[in-house]
Amino acid sequence: MSILVTGGAGYIGSHTVAELLAHGEEVVVVDNLGTGHAASVLGAPFYEADIRDHDRIVHILREHAVDTVVHFAANSLVGESVKNPLKYYENNVAATARLLGAMLDANVKRIVFSSTAAVYGEPERTPIREDDATVPTNPYGETKLAIERMFHWCREAYGLSSISLRYFNAAGAHPTLPIGEHHNPETHLIPIILQAALGQRPEVSIFGDDYPTVDGTCVRDYIHVMDLASAHRLAVERLRRLEKSGETAAEAFNLGNGEGFSVKQVIDVAREVTGCAIPAVVGPRRAGDPAVLVASSDKAREVLGWRPERADLREIVDSAWRWHRSHPHGYER
Ligand code: UFG
Repeated sequence: MSILVTGGAGYIGSHTVAELLAHGEEVVVVDNLGTGHAASVLGAPFYEADIRDHDRIVHILREHAVDTVVHFAANSLVGESVKNPLKYYENNVAATARLLGAMLDANVKRIVFSSTAAVYGEPERTPIREDDATVPTNPYGETKLAIERMFHWCREAYGLSSISLRYFNAAGAHPTLPIGEHHNPETHLIPIILQAALGQRPEVSIFGDDYPTVDGTCVRDYIHVMDLASAHRLAVERLRRLEKSGETAAEAFNLGNGEGFSVKQVIDVAREVTGCAIPAVVGPRRAGDPAVLVASSDKAREVLGWRPERADLREIVDSAWRWHRSHPHGYER
């Protein structure tokens, strides 16, 4: 019995692979390296393959006696999705439909899915709960929601059992292994701040300071990547348990710490952690940014038994800083 991790060479995928291996799971990784890094796959068999390659995926599923898929493979840049929505419908929605077809042909009927807070769009209340309205404001969130809906219909039609995990703002790095966050281009706040601390950027640009928040800058719920990883492991365990009692699921869970920090507060924490000045300038708003995104993760705590263990923002930034300092160019040599 093993777990196939698609997109296992990406940021959250590689940390989840490490978490599963550390808990004695057999893991196999598929990634087309469109945005992932082969060097981030440590200790698991790795196939450079595309999830649309039906025959190859069926073969890998059978060869490794896979019982559950953890599915990260996707494009995940909000801005890019607005400029090129068809890329997102193709690589996220159509590719996932192909993956599900291969899974059903190999008789694999359990999937844990990498979803996002972007399915909610502009939230109607804070903290956000899973049954709040889902009105995405960009194609990225729209495609992730379409996949969640696809799971619902595939449960009805084929008995597929799924758990979708809606992440808030992933950050941090593995405490001991040489893996961390490396995107090109980098768009996320904490790595950008740390690149400025390393002198790789002259400054951090703060996208707007006229939001209705504590200091006018956007508030987000930052969650350690290893806490996200543990939620995937618990979700796999839940799907296996349900199957034993003859049940299926099509569930969604928020994953966040339930506490929001403004952009300015994150920069201040990073100044403390790094001891660097980190110049910052206020610029215009970035289109499509909600003022506040904070999760209620009560459902994940109750149903999955999930407990974030690295909720302190200092610890999150500190672990990211250790990665950035030791790998100033990420996985590039
Ligand atoms: N920000 C800046 N300057 C920067 C980069 C970011 O001020 O150089 C601000 C953003 O405006 C935002 C906050 O920092 O208010 C966090 O921005 P990120 O880009 O790090 O993260 P987002 O909240 O935009 O995105 C996250 C996930 C997406 C997901 C989205 C849901 O990374 O995958 O939440 O809205 F789609």
